[in-house]
Amino acid sequence: MDVPDRQEFRRAVGLLPTGVTVVSAFGDGEPAGATASAVCSLSLEPMMMLVCLDHGSRSLAVLQRAGRFGISVLGVGQQPAAEVFATKAPQSEKWSSVSWREHLGVPIVEGSLARIVCGLGDVLPGGDHVIVTGTVIEVEAEPGDPLVYHGGLFRALDAGSGDGIERADA
Ligand SMILES: Cc1cc2nc3c(=O)[nH]c(=O)nc-3n(C[C@H](O)[C@H](O)[C@H](O)COP(=O)(O)O)c2cc1C
Repeated sequence: MDVPDRQEFRRAVGLLPTGVTVVSAFGDGEPAGATASAVCSLSLEPMMMLVCLDHGSRSLAVLQRAGRFGISVLGVGQQPAAEVFATKAPQSEKWSSVSWREHLGVPIVEGSLARIVCGLGDVLPGGDHVIVTGTVIEVEAEPGDPLVYHGGLFRALDAGSGDGIERADA
């Protein structure tokens, strides 16, 4: 069988709309963070999250040492934060470009729609990424419009989508 086409793979997975988060931790008292969309809930009992991070992510190394991490779910007005946290700029530069605060031992991006603090669980192999699991220590959420990533672009949900479409079995 032919090797699957890399570009086609990127196009295919780019069709999955995702939320956008900043995954963060403290290292030697300094905040570190990366934009991450490979983030989802994993378990309800106990409450757990899952984050996939590149081996090359500097924030991954910090998070592993810290043993706890934060997930800031970005709102539609926070594209600049998503862009800066996706760079390899010095961490001090990333964090000085946003307002943030310490919350339960992790740095959190102010104005985010939801903030989830996790204790580090497993770090499992996943190709050029690792799969990080976290046990939820605390969670806060406010209603608001999320920042969405789709087809390589940051987007807002459609203005009319607030009503949603009721599930057939709801
Ligand atoms: C929309 C978007 C989503 C991203 N999602 C992830 C992700 O889920 N996991 C990951 O490792 N990198 C992801 N990245 C890339 C990282 O943000 C990028 O490699 C960043 O430079 C890592 O920063 P660090 O080395 O300071 O940790 C994403 C980038 C963008 C723009």
